[in-house]
Amino acid sequence: MSLPLSMRPEPETGVALEFRGVTKSFGPVVALDGFSHRFEPGRVHALMGRNGSGKSTLVKMLAGVFPPDAGEIRLGDTPCRFDGPADAFRAGIVTVHQELSLVPNLSIGENIVLGRLPQRRRAGLRVVDWPALFARAQAQLEAMGLDLDPRAPVATLSVGQQQVVEIVKAMAFQPAVLLLDEPTSALATREVRLLFDLVRRLKASGVTMLYITHRMSELFEIADTCTVLRDGVRIGALDMATASHGAIVEMMFGEAAHEVPRRRSPARGRPVLSVRGLNRAGAFHDIGFDLHAGEVLGIAGLLGSGRTEVLRAIVGADRAESGSVRLHGREMFGARPRDLRAAGLGYAPENRKEAGLVQSLSTADNICMAAAGSVARRGFLTRAMERPLVREQIDDLRIKAGDPELPVSALSGGNQQKVVIGKWMATAPTVMLFDEPSRGVDIRAKRQIFEIIWRKAESGLAALFVSSELEEVLEVADRVLVMRHGRIVAEVDPAATTLTELYGLCMEGTRA
Ligand SMILES: Nc1ncnc2c1ncn2[C@@H]1O[C@H](COP(=O)(O)OP(=O)(O)OP(=O)(O)O)[C@@H](O)[C@H]1O
Ligand SMILES: [Mg+2]
Repeated sequence: MSLPLSMRPEPETGVALEFRGVTKSFGPVVALDGFSHRFEPGRVHALMGRNGSGKSTLVKMLAGVFPPDAGEIRLGDTPCRFDGPADAFRAGIVTVHQELSLVPNLSIGENIVLGRLPQRRRAGLRVVDWPALFARAQAQLEAMGLDLDPRAPVATLSVGQQQVVEIVKAMAFQPAVLLLDEPTSALATREVRLLFDLVRRLKASGVTMLYITHRMSELFEIADTCTVLRDGVRIGALDMATASHGAIVEMMFGEAAHEVPRRRSPARGRPVLSVRGLNRAGAFHDIGFDLHAGEVLGIAGLLGSGRTEVLRAIVGADRAESGSVRLHGREMFGARPRDLRAAGLGYAPENRKEAGLVQSLSTADNICMAAAGSVARRGFLTRAMERPLVREQIDDLRIKAGDPELPVSALSGGNQQKVVIGKWMATAPTVMLFDEPSRGVDIRAKRQIFEIIWRKAESGLAALFVSSELEEVLEVADRVLVMRHGRIVAEVDPAATTLTELYGLCMEGTRA
């Protein structure tokens, strides 16, 4: 039912956000170069640009992480000069950062209300009102369709679940400006829907939103405008009502999109990884499949369906309770990660911050870390041995790393993701498990990663591929297993399956 126009609630008037000649450099790298733009209130403004183009830098200045070198940011009539993130926050600027920033040892509930713990008086003293805290957090989690215990530590969550908790936390404040830096990079379709509902509600109440994503389809669904950056420079801004996919890609990369090469017809070899009856109570049940040499096997499933848990159990990062994992014919159930690696198994995890990279080490050291055993002669690795290995990965994956000897933390999010892949490719594995390999990488880099996976598969690599984006699973894999509630419930041929059919299989019997 629609209300007559005169009775519709007017959107509250929010404040515009204006950048005037904002510049920020890191040593020789100009991350943002004289950026000027006015973001109107009550609208969702997408920021687009390839990996390393300056999007997160822009957001971080607004969030008070660091100040601009030159130029000015204004919120309404007030110039923003923030003395740290807490200061920006007090001004009503709430941020969901690209790299997860929850406190792993605290509970989900504490993370959500961090800094605003509800208190009550007991014997004249102020104490934290724990029941109120957990009840409030529970209600907020439920609003996002999450069935999580607010008392559980954040460390027990998958990357996707942490991402939702970050969003719930941001939404719990009443922001004037909401900055979302790739909030959905590890979310599956259902969680994205819920987030978009919240975003639309905030928009109606006049909140100014900046939204960074590498998922093109989201752009057309949620954004009102799109501002494109290339090498720190504002290339232009488009109204989404009239923008085309091609025009945006051209602005991002400076040239028109190329035709996408379709994948070769896969030649399947003998099984190299055979999993049977793998179980862990509460996580996954009776998991069994064969992965063949030269094959790319996809696993599709919603957030929390058990995909990541299965991968972690195979590589020995977590224990399974029972089952069999045969690698090249040898039983490896319960083997140490080191022995699995020596037997040819590689694993690029979803969480680059914790399991994937050592943030304080250089890009070069991170790439070499996993390969150390295979390139080192007589047990040690010299710079001379390292150099070609590092070069090959940087060139292969087109990693934008000014100086590979600098800490990997200086790379943009998408480039860090490429280092995770490069690190494992450098070990020349025969079986490789990829958990969300394209998380946070731009559309062209995504294609490069897929092409590398296909190319290696052609020369015999057996690859297992997990992604929250079902389109991607259909595109990359030769065969797709569907997981639901910790079980493999179907196997489909991606060439003969539509997106809607696959989504239906993932959802069946789950509450919407
Ligand atoms: N702390 C830092 N130290 C040094 N260089 C940095 C730092 N932060 C960012 N940079 C550099 O600034 C440039 C812009 O990075 P930024 O993180 O803003 O890119 P982005 O557009 O968010 O990319 P992505 O899509 O990969 O997240 C990159 O070249 C990056 O390496
Ligand atoms: Mg970024």
